[in-house]
Amino acid sequence: MVYQAHPARYESMEYRRCGRSGLKLPAISLGLWHNFGDTTLLDNSRELLHRAFDSGITHLDLANNYGPPPGSAEENFGRILREDFLPYRDELIISSKAGYTMWGGPYGDWGSRKYLISSLDQSLKRMGLEYVDIFYHHRPDPETPLEETMRALDTVVRQGKALYVGISNYPAALAAQAIDILNDLGTPCLIHQPKYSMFERWVEDGLLDVLQEKGVGSIAFSPLAGGQLTDRYLSGIPADSRAASGSIFLNADQLTTAKLEKVRKLNAIAQRRGQKLSQMALAWVLRGDRVTSVLIGASKTSQIDDAVGMLANRHFTAAELAEIEEILV
Ligand SMILES: NC(=O)c1ccc[n+]([C@@H]2O[C@H](COP(=O)([O-])OP(=O)(O)OC[C@H]3O[C@@H](n4cnc5c(N)ncnc54)[C@H](OP(=O)(O)O)[C@@H]3O)[C@@H](O)[C@H]2O)c1
Repeated sequence: MVYQAHPARYESMEYRRCGRSGLKLPAISLGLWHNFGDTTLLDNSRELLHRAFDSGITHLDLANNYGPPPGSAEENFGRILREDFLPYRDELIISSKAGYTMWGGPYGDWGSRKYLISSLDQSLKRMGLEYVDIFYHHRPDPETPLEETMRALDTVVRQGKALYVGISNYPAALAAQAIDILNDLGTPCLIHQPKYSMFERWVEDGLLDVLQEKGVGSIAFSPLAGGQLTDRYLSGIPADSRAASGSIFLNADQLTTAKLEKVRKLNAIAQRRGQKLSQMALAWVLRGDRVTSVLIGASKTSQIDDAVGMLANRHFTAAELAEIEEILV
């Protein structure tokens, strides 16, 4: 059956201006890091994309290396895009990135002009796109001159292969330099993509100030700490969870007794607020309006529903924030 997007898809979502740009992003975006590679059933990936778009999630985030194997998330996404989403291409913000290891030899990693431009060409082929909406440098490269990497971002915009560019995982001072270089080149930096959650707060130590001052948006990745800031692990490790999947990014060792104790206390506050912990954790990242969008992952459509349900209760009292703070320290 031909996919038809839900007619009311824009009613449940909030769209927020990305820095001082003309682009608005949904308060919730979907990342395709997990659950879109060749180890996932294509039908599940398809359902996740349908549910996301039907809920007003217009921004889908990819990278060259998402899979496994690397590249397969872009390929599978490309297929679903071709089969279901072509009529909606202009309603979607699709991003990709290069910066982590993608192919062997000296040109498939880090931040050279050679790597970034050829990697984006490969991503476009895999997804069957003429351009991405946002192209990121995925992580800082300590060896390549920052000017070279930023010039490569400027080039892809001038070539029409990306509409906007961004940076990811750049610490505050380096982000400020990168943003200035891009401004000088005439291709403003649209967005920064840092890791940010109740359990990972480095962005509060200068980065959010830099972005606000320079008018650059931000999209917080892993806002649920990969699922730790949900009720998923409160009574053991479910067989279908990320922590049981052999992931190097989340495993049983990270789910310490001390951490689970914090999660339990946070869960109690969320229950008092009449929402799920996952919802409170997302609302917390969006508090204060300095983060443009939260970039979630999902293995089930119900997790997307949970995230969107958060929008109904985003407000925190000062007492609630203080109580959360006490748990997190
Ligand atoms: N720029 C970078 O360097 C970088 C790095 C990492 C990620 N990212 C981006 O950020 C995106 C999100 O990362 P992430 O997947 O780590 O984000 P996350 O939202 O912190 O974690 C998502 C996982 O949490 C669990 N979950 C989600 N909602 C839930 C709910 N309502 N109840 C219970 N469990 C729930 C699911 O795990 P289960 O599988 O256990 O169900 C889901 O896969 C990625 O796809 C990627 O686009 C970027």
